[in-house]
Amino acid sequence: MTDDDRTRAAWAAASMKYEREANEHLELARTYRLEPVEEQVLARDVHGAEVVHPMSGHGLDDLALARLGAASVLGLDYSPAAVRSAQQRADALGLPCRYREVALPATGLPDGSADLVYTGKGALIWVADLAAFLAEMHRILRPAGALFVYEAHPLVPLWTWEPDEARVRADRSYFAPGHVNDTFPAGGAYEHQRTLAQMVTGVLEAGFAVEHLAEHPDPFWKPGDLRAAAWDGRLPNTVSLLARRLG
Ligand SMILES: C[S@@+](CC[C@H](N)C(=O)[O-])C[C@H]1O[C@@H](n2cnc3c(N)ncnc32)[C@H](O)[C@@H]1O
Repeated sequence: MTDDDRTRAAWAAASMKYEREANEHLELARTYRLEPVEEQVLARDVHGAEVVHPMSGHGLDDLALARLGAASVLGLDYSPAAVRSAQQRADALGLPCRYREVALPATGLPDGSADLVYTGKGALIWVADLAAFLAEMHRILRPAGALFVYEAHPLVPLWTWEPDEARVRADRSYFAPGHVNDTFPAGGAYEHQRTLAQMVTGVLEAGFAVEHLAEHPDPFWKPGDLRAAAWDGRLPNTVSLLARRLG
Protein backbone atom coordinates (compact mmCIF):
# COMPACT_ATOMS: atom_id res chain seq x y z
CA MET A 1 0.00 0.00 0.00
CA THR A 2 1.43 3.41 -0.95
CA ASP A 3 1.22 6.57 1.17
CA ASP A 4 -1.49 7.90 -1.14
CA ASP A 5 -3.51 4.65 -0.84
CA ARG A 6 -3.38 5.07 2.95
CA THR A 7 -4.57 8.67 2.57
CA ARG A 8 -7.52 7.58 0.43
CA ALA A 9 -8.46 4.86 2.91
CA ALA A 10 -8.19 7.33 5.81
CA TRP A 11 -10.54 9.76 4.03
CA ALA A 12 -12.99 7.05 3.03
CA ALA A 13 -13.31 6.22 6.74
CA ALA A 14 -13.19 9.83 8.05
CA SER A 15 -15.88 11.01 5.62
CA MET A 16 -18.45 8.60 7.07
CA LYS A 17 -18.75 11.25 9.78
CA TYR A 18 -20.56 13.53 7.32
CA GLU A 19 -23.29 10.89 6.90
CA ARG A 20 -23.43 10.07 10.61
CA GLU A 21 -23.76 13.77 11.45
CA ALA A 22 -25.99 14.67 8.50
CA ASN A 23 -28.58 16.47 10.65
CA GLU A 24 -25.99 18.61 12.49
CA HIS A 25 -24.32 19.48 9.17
CA LEU A 26 -27.65 20.43 7.65
CA GLU A 27 -28.32 22.83 10.52
CA LEU A 28 -24.79 24.26 10.24
CA ALA A 29 -25.22 24.60 6.48
CA ARG A 30 -28.22 26.92 6.84
CA THR A 31 -26.07 29.76 8.14
CA TYR A 32 -22.54 28.68 7.15
CA ARG A 33 -20.38 31.41 5.59
CA LEU A 34 -16.90 31.58 4.15
CA GLU A 35 -14.23 33.37 6.20
CA PRO A 36 -14.40 37.18 5.83
CA VAL A 37 -11.11 37.25 3.90
CA GLU A 38 -12.47 34.64 1.47
CA GLU A 39 -15.62 36.68 0.84
CA GLN A 40 -13.54 39.81 0.35
CA VAL A 41 -11.02 38.27 -2.08
CA LEU A 42 -13.70 36.37 -4.04
CA ALA A 43 -16.08 39.32 -4.33
CA ARG A 44 -15.09 40.13 -7.92
CA ASP A 45 -15.09 36.55 -9.19
CA VAL A 46 -17.92 34.64 -7.52
CA HIS A 47 -21.05 36.35 -8.84
CA GLY A 48 -22.54 34.33 -11.72
CA ALA A 49 -19.50 32.02 -11.79
CA GLU A 50 -19.43 28.37 -12.69
CA VAL A 51 -17.27 27.12 -9.83
CA VAL A 52 -15.29 23.88 -9.52
CA HIS A 53 -14.28 22.80 -6.00
CA PRO A 54 -11.57 20.11 -5.96
CA MET A 55 -11.44 18.12 -2.67
CA SER A 56 -14.88 19.41 -1.76
CA GLY A 57 -15.15 17.29 1.41
CA HIS A 58 -18.26 18.14 3.45
CA GLY A 59 -19.25 20.72 0.84
CA LEU A 60 -20.33 23.44 3.27
CA ASP A 61 -18.15 25.93 1.40
CA ASP A 62 -20.12 25.21 -1.78
CA LEU A 63 -23.40 26.22 -0.17
CA ALA A 64 -21.77 29.47 0.94
CA LEU A 65 -20.42 30.08 -2.58
CA ALA A 66 -23.90 29.54 -4.04
CA ARG A 67 -25.35 32.01 -1.53
CA LEU A 68 -22.67 34.53 -2.56
CA GLY A 69 -24.05 34.35 -6.11
CA ALA A 70 -22.18 31.51 -7.85
CA ALA A 71 -24.29 30.18 -10.75
CA SER A 72 -23.23 26.61 -9.95
CA VAL A 73 -20.68 24.71 -7.91
CA LEU A 74 -19.27 21.32 -8.89
CA GLY A 75 -17.57 19.54 -6.01
CA LEU A 76 -15.02 16.83 -6.81
CA ASP A 77 -13.91 14.34 -4.20
CA TYR A 78 -12.84 10.69 -4.18
CA SER A 79 -14.64 9.87 -0.96
CA PRO A 80 -18.05 8.28 -1.73
CA ALA A 81 -19.53 9.29 1.64
CA ALA A 82 -18.41 12.92 1.19
CA VAL A 83 -19.96 13.10 -2.28
CA ARG A 84 -23.23 11.45 -1.20
CA SER A 85 -23.71 13.55 1.92
CA ALA A 86 -22.79 16.84 0.24
CA GLN A 87 -25.25 16.16 -2.61
CA GLN A 88 -28.06 15.31 -0.19
CA ARG A 89 -27.46 18.51 1.78
CA ALA A 90 -27.35 20.73 -1.31
CA ASP A 91 -30.57 19.12 -2.59
CA ALA A 92 -32.28 19.58 0.77
CA LEU A 93 -31.40 23.29 0.67
CA GLY A 94 -32.24 23.67 -3.04
CA LEU A 95 -28.83 25.10 -3.92
CA PRO A 96 -27.13 24.64 -7.34
CA CYS A 97 -24.30 22.35 -6.15
CA ARG A 98 -23.45 19.01 -7.75
CA TYR A 99 -20.90 16.44 -6.68
CA ARG A 100 -18.84 13.86 -8.54
CA GLU A 101 -16.64 11.07 -7.28
CA VAL A 102 -13.29 11.85 -8.89
CA ALA A 103 -9.69 10.94 -8.05
CA LEU A 104 -7.73 14.12 -8.64
CA PRO A 105 -5.61 15.57 -10.18
CA ALA A 106 -7.53 14.44 -13.32
CA THR A 107 -11.02 16.01 -13.27
CA GLY A 108 -12.52 14.58 -16.47
CA LEU A 109 -13.92 18.07 -17.21
CA PRO A 110 -13.71 19.76 -20.63
CA ASP A 111 -11.16 22.50 -21.35
CA GLY A 112 -12.23 25.98 -20.28
CA SER A 113 -15.36 24.89 -18.42
CA ALA A 114 -15.02 26.87 -15.17
CA ASP A 115 -14.82 30.54 -14.21
CA LEU A 116 -13.50 29.90 -10.71
CA VAL A 117 -11.64 27.07 -9.00
CA TYR A 118 -12.12 27.23 -5.22
CA THR A 119 -10.09 24.93 -2.99
CA GLY A 120 -8.28 24.59 0.32
CA LYS A 121 -8.99 24.03 4.02
CA GLY A 122 -6.99 20.84 3.93
CA ALA A 123 -6.82 20.11 0.18
CA LEU A 124 -3.41 20.71 -1.40
CA ILE A 125 -1.61 18.63 1.24
CA TRP A 126 -3.19 15.48 -0.23
CA VAL A 127 -1.91 16.20 -3.74
CA ALA A 128 1.25 14.22 -4.52
CA ASP A 129 1.96 16.01 -7.82
CA LEU A 130 1.20 19.70 -7.34
CA ALA A 131 2.41 20.64 -10.86
CA ALA A 132 -0.05 18.15 -12.41
CA PHE A 133 -2.88 19.45 -10.21
CA LEU A 134 -2.19 23.09 -11.09
CA ALA A 135 -1.88 22.25 -14.82
CA GLU A 136 -5.31 20.58 -14.63
CA MET A 137 -6.83 23.63 -12.89
CA HIS A 138 -5.35 25.88 -15.59
CA ARG A 139 -6.81 23.63 -18.31
CA ILE A 140 -10.36 23.60 -16.92
CA LEU A 141 -10.46 27.36 -16.28
CA ARG A 142 -11.62 29.76 -18.97
CA PRO A 143 -9.10 32.44 -19.98
CA ALA A 144 -8.94 35.02 -17.15
CA GLY A 145 -10.60 32.51 -14.82
CA ALA A 146 -9.51 32.56 -11.19
CA LEU A 147 -7.87 30.00 -8.92
CA PHE A 148 -8.60 30.67 -5.24
CA VAL A 149 -6.88 28.81 -2.40
CA TYR A 150 -7.48 29.25 1.35
CA GLU A 151 -5.18 26.76 2.97
CA ALA A 152 -3.24 25.91 6.09
CA HIS A 153 0.03 27.84 6.13
CA PRO A 154 2.97 25.56 5.22
CA LEU A 155 4.46 26.26 8.68
CA VAL A 156 1.46 24.74 10.48
CA PRO A 157 2.85 21.16 10.67
CA LEU A 158 5.67 22.56 12.79
CA TRP A 159 3.58 24.14 15.57
CA THR A 160 2.83 22.21 18.75
CA TRP A 161 -0.67 22.67 20.22
CA GLU A 162 0.45 23.42 23.80
CA PRO A 163 -1.68 26.03 25.62
CA ASP A 164 1.16 27.95 27.32
CA GLU A 165 3.63 28.51 24.50
CA ALA A 166 3.95 27.56 20.84
CA ARG A 167 6.91 25.30 20.24
CA VAL A 168 8.43 23.78 17.12
CA ARG A 169 7.89 20.02 16.85
CA ALA A 170 11.17 18.14 17.05
CA ASP A 171 9.98 15.55 14.50
CA ARG A 172 9.03 18.03 11.75
CA SER A 173 10.90 20.19 9.23
CA TYR A 174 9.61 23.05 7.07
CA PHE A 175 11.67 21.56 4.22
CA ALA A 176 10.52 17.92 4.59
CA PRO A 177 8.62 16.41 1.63
CA GLY A 178 5.80 15.37 3.96
CA HIS A 179 4.71 13.66 7.16
CA VAL A 180 2.04 11.29 8.44
CA ASN A 181 -0.98 13.08 9.94
CA ASP A 182 -1.35 12.19 13.62
CA THR A 183 -4.59 14.05 14.41
CA PHE A 184 -8.27 13.77 13.59
CA PRO A 185 -9.89 13.48 11.09
CA ALA A 186 -7.43 11.85 8.69
CA GLY A 187 -5.00 10.20 11.10
CA GLY A 188 -2.61 7.94 9.18
CA ALA A 189 -2.96 9.93 5.94
CA TYR A 190 0.23 11.23 4.31
CA GLU A 191 0.45 15.03 4.06
CA HIS A 192 2.63 16.40 1.26
CA GLN A 193 4.48 19.54 2.34
CA ARG A 194 5.55 22.51 0.23
CA THR A 195 7.13 25.71 1.36
CA LEU A 196 5.23 28.92 0.63
CA ALA A 197 7.80 29.69 -2.08
CA GLN A 198 7.28 26.28 -3.72
CA MET A 199 3.51 26.75 -3.65
CA VAL A 200 3.61 30.22 -5.23
CA THR A 201 6.28 29.26 -7.77
CA GLY A 202 4.14 26.26 -8.75
CA VAL A 203 1.16 28.54 -9.40
CA LEU A 204 3.26 30.94 -11.51
CA GLU A 205 4.85 28.09 -13.50
CA ALA A 206 1.39 26.66 -14.26
CA GLY A 207 0.53 29.86 -16.15
CA PHE A 208 -1.22 32.04 -13.57
CA ALA A 209 -0.62 35.61 -12.42
CA VAL A 210 -0.86 35.99 -8.64
CA GLU A 211 -3.23 38.85 -7.75
CA HIS A 212 -3.55 38.25 -4.02
CA LEU A 213 -1.35 36.48 -1.47
CA ALA A 214 -1.70 36.93 2.29
CA GLU A 215 -0.82 35.12 5.52
CA HIS A 216 -3.27 35.03 8.44
CA PRO A 217 -2.97 34.21 12.16
CA ASP A 218 -6.18 32.16 12.57
CA PRO A 219 -6.37 28.47 11.66
CA PHE A 220 -9.25 27.40 9.39
CA TRP A 221 -10.04 24.57 11.82
CA LYS A 222 -9.65 24.03 15.56
CA PRO A 223 -10.25 20.58 16.97
CA GLY A 224 -12.87 20.62 19.73
CA ASP A 225 -12.19 22.95 22.66
CA LEU A 226 -8.43 23.00 22.16
CA ARG A 227 -6.82 26.41 22.69
CA ALA A 228 -3.24 26.36 21.41
CA ALA A 229 -0.77 29.21 21.98
CA ALA A 230 0.12 28.82 18.29
CA TRP A 231 -3.26 30.46 17.55
CA ASP A 232 -2.76 33.55 19.72
CA GLY A 233 -2.22 35.83 16.74
CA ARG A 234 1.58 35.85 16.56
CA LEU A 235 2.12 33.03 14.06
CA PRO A 236 0.85 32.37 10.53
CA ASN A 237 -1.80 29.61 10.36
CA THR A 238 -3.50 30.16 7.02
CA VAL A 239 -2.65 31.54 3.61
CA SER A 240 -4.98 32.96 0.96
CA LEU A 241 -4.13 33.19 -2.73
CA LEU A 242 -5.99 34.36 -5.81
CA ALA A 243 -4.35 33.74 -9.18
CA ARG A 244 -5.67 34.49 -12.65
CA ARG A 245 -5.24 32.25 -15.67
CA LEU A 246 -3.03 33.91 -18.27
CA GLY A 247 -3.84 33.28 -21.92
C1 LIG B 1 -10.04 18.28 4.67
S1 LIG B 1 -11.11 17.55 3.50
C2 LIG B 1 -11.82 18.75 2.60
C3 LIG B 1 -11.57 20.10 2.44
C4 LIG B 1 -12.90 20.77 2.21
N1 LIG B 1 -12.61 22.10 1.80
C5 LIG B 1 -13.68 20.75 3.52
O1 LIG B 1 -13.52 21.71 4.29
O2 LIG B 1 -14.41 19.79 3.78
C6 LIG B 1 -10.09 16.82 2.30
C7 LIG B 1 -10.90 16.11 1.23
O3 LIG B 1 -10.02 15.83 0.13
C8 LIG B 1 -10.42 14.62 -0.45
N2 LIG B 1 -9.27 14.15 -1.24
C9 LIG B 1 -8.00 13.99 -0.82
N3 LIG B 1 -7.21 13.61 -1.85
C10 LIG B 1 -8.02 13.52 -2.95
C11 LIG B 1 -7.79 13.17 -4.31
N4 LIG B 1 -6.59 12.84 -4.77
N5 LIG B 1 -8.84 13.20 -5.16
C12 LIG B 1 -10.08 13.55 -4.73
N6 LIG B 1 -10.36 13.88 -3.45
C13 LIG B 1 -9.34 13.87 -2.57
C14 LIG B 1 -10.82 13.74 0.74
O4 LIG B 1 -11.68 12.69 0.39
C15 LIG B 1 -11.46 14.76 1.67
O5 LIG B 1 -12.87 14.79 1.50
